[in-house]
Amino acid sequence: MAKELVRVLRSGELAPGRMAFVAIDGLPVALANVEGTIYAFSDSCRHEGGSLSTGVLIADSVTCPWHGWAYSVRSGKSLIPPVGLRLPTYPVVTIGDEVYIELDWDVSN
Ligand code: FES
Repeated sequence: MAKELVRVLRSGELAPGRMAFVAIDGLPVALANVEGTIYAFSDSCRHEGGSLSTGVLIADSVTCPWHGWAYSVRSGKSLIPPVGLRLPTYPVVTIGDEVYIELDWDVSN
């Protein structure tokens, strides 16, 4: 497996309750700050690919701006029918002031 830590932002750059988008070698990743903890997950909605980082974040759920599908930013699980779908999620690592996500290129693409 080829695991890699990729720096995505500084810890103070994403306020609680906010989201951000990063593209890493073409992989669209959404970041969400929930009460000071940053979560990383696929930015691409499982329905038709809406950009989740432009959706609405309430507590730890994100709602897609296109047709309203909602997911847990912690687990990636869908919260409304069709349940059982899951977004890819990525471990977040903070080293000093820098925030990284861990990508496993063998399974994340
Ligand atoms: S693309 Fe996200 S709900 Fe349709």
